Amino acid sequence: MSENKRASFGGKLSVILVAAGSAIGLGAIWRFPYIAGENGGAAFMLVFLLSVFIVGIPAMLAEFAVGRRTRKNAVGAFKELSKRWNWLGYSGVLGAMLISGYYYLIAGWSLEYLVNSATGALYSSADTFSEQFDSFQRSWRPLIYGIIFILMTHVIVSRGVEKGIEKASKIMMPMLFLILIVMAVRVSFMPNAIEGYRFLFSFDFSEAFKPETIMMAIGQAFFSLSVGMGCMVTYASYFKKDNNLIATSFNVSILTLLVSVLAGLVIFPAVFSAGLEPSGGPSLVFVTLPEIFKGMPLASMWSAIFFVLVMLASLTSTISFHEVLTAYFAEEFKLSRQAAAITTTALSIALSSLTFSKLFGLDYLDIFDKVTANVLMPLGAMFTCVFVIWVLERDFMKNELTNYGSLKSRIAPVIVFMLKYITPLLIFYIFTRNII
Ligand code: PFF
Repeated sequence: MSENKRASFGGKLSVILVAAGSAIGLGAIWRFPYIAGENGGAAFMLVFLLSVFIVGIPAMLAEFAVGRRTRKNAVGAFKELSKRWNWLGYSGVLGAMLISGYYYLIAGWSLEYLVNSATGALYSSADTFSEQFDSFQRSWRPLIYGIIFILMTHVIVSRGVEKGIEKASKIMMPMLFLILIVMAVRVSFMPNAIEGYRFLFSFDFSEAFKPETIMMAIGQAFFSLSVGMGCMVTYASYFKKDNNLIATSFNVSILTLLVSVLAGLVIFPAVFSAGLEPSGGPSLVFVTLPEIFKGMPLASMWSAIFFVLVMLASLTSTISFHEVLTAYFAEEFKLSRQAAAITTTALSIALSSLTFSKLFGLDYLDIFDKVTANVLMPLGAMFTCVFVIWVLERDFMKNELTNYGSLKSRIAPVIVFMLKYITPLLIFYIFTRNII
């Protein structure tokens, strides 16, 4: 595809919905509530908020700038800017591969639960929810649903950037917001819901500034904002030249924060109302929530609606890392988009099968998750910040943030300052502490 024929997303709103679609996913709806639950609720939320602004937004902007300037896939983009830094693009591609090895499987769980809610099977079984979850995990169904999820993603991505990714996000994101709001309102009528709000909004400062809390919050910010894996580089390569990158990154981040908090507003009041524990671990969504729905009138319906929400959120994220790989294969190996999408899909199925097989008794889900969230994403983001400030021409960031002077922005110098002195150092500090 020639440079000027390259696909691009439509207007401002499309760009925000597509990028927010990538950001808002299992991270906001599944990972955030249980991590917040385990790390002091509101205290965690505060640190998370700070992490988004101090670390997430500057890093996202660095990626936007690299992608939009070069209009290339993650590897092509870094390679064009500096041959010696092309490994940063490969680290993104590697990250996208690793995340493909487990994210689809978890997303697939929501399909199983959606089907079982709709048919009523989930609520008519004699087994407890935790027994149902365990027997589901021991069966072949997680792999089958994971593969179905990969194929759904494939259908969207292979339709192209505009007709596939953009169109799907424009339909699915508003649905997602609507469902979340309806659920939050419904939950607020449950007895004792107030306990959940108290938990979510009460402050425990001693909890908030513990190094572990900060580390978890920064990791969550990377994961949730899809930063540090070439994803925002790839998406920004489809942005128009006049896009206001700062405004886009703020909008995307605020939407992500909002959805994370709304997910908390659905889950915690419900958990407390049912007299259950908030720190239910990863099974919070698949064991604790069904328990709660069961006590409600129209249990199957609410449960199905909730799992549609999880499915929509996941799907707009899986298309984004599928696209990182599809764009990479298409542009770097000169494949047609179809062939590149098929390659990505085949690779995703192979990696998911590996994770599912637990070959050699290894927990690949945990390994892939730890390597991406704790190593590749922080390092990728840190070096991208260093790269845009210290390696590229002096005004690279300033030019990209202000569209070469056509936008007046008082925030641009602040972002440049943070990218220079604060964001990478903070990531480095947290990363080394984490390793030690
Ligand atoms: N941000 C997504 C979520 O929170 O579920 C996950 C993700 C998508 C991470 C794309 C990285 C990425 F490149």
